[in-house]
Amino acid sequence: MPRKIAAGNWKMNATASDLDQISALAVTHANTTIDILICPPATLIAQAAALNGPIRIGGQDCHSATSGAHTGDIAAPMLAACGASAVIVGHSERRSDHGETDAMVQAKAMAAHAAGLTAIICIGETLAEREAGTTLQIIDRQLAGSIPGGASEANTVIAYEPVWAIGTGRVPTLDQIGEVHAHIRAQYPTLAILYGGSVKGSNAADIFAVPHVNGALVGGASLRAADFSPIIAALESA
Ligand code: PGA
Repeated sequence: MPRKIAAGNWKMNATASDLDQISALAVTHANTTIDILICPPATLIAQAAALNGPIRIGGQDCHSATSGAHTGDIAAPMLAACGASAVIVGHSERRSDHGETDAMVQAKAMAAHAAGLTAIICIGETLAEREAGTTLQIIDRQLAGSIPGGASEANTVIAYEPVWAIGTGRVPTLDQIGEVHAHIRAQYPTLAILYGGSVKGSNAADIFAVPHVNGALVGGASLRAADFSPIIAALESA
């Protein structure tokens, strides 16, 4: 059974005054039985990782190289050195804002592995692709192109995030989530598979009851402990 993971992606939000949200989660979930991960902006990783408690800290992206002339980028060993244990790669916002291809995402995941980080590799179809009936083909292409050969349950998590559900309040039906998760599970029997896209306290328990959903990657509802905590609790009791 893959481990359960509640991961929060803070995206380009938060400054040091928001670190108390992580402290609050650490108190409420001090004895948690699952993996809780917060991926704050890179500017907060070192401070967040220095907080005591069960909350793991991750990056939101890394470069595929270990160092060099790449202005504005962050290398995976740098994330590890300031206390991150994981990094999100291939988020749809990186794929669309920065033109990241499957090959680039795969190279980033390999860099994460080499640095000892868990790579949370994101995949998901657009609304046009779903409406064209090509969702599973898109998922297969992204899996084949983005997941490195060395992926194992120790270093890789897959996040299925339909692009049209991210930040929109639109959530796929439970059957739609289940279809894609079962499809991924057939190819990756041991990896944790997270669902992402408009997860909230009010829908988390239903989503976590879908077979092969091992947790969630949460954007907006991870910013405040009061919103994220019920999602964590739903996963703890799933
Ligand atoms: P959302 O974002 O929860 O705000 O929809 C999810 C994500 O982008 O990981």
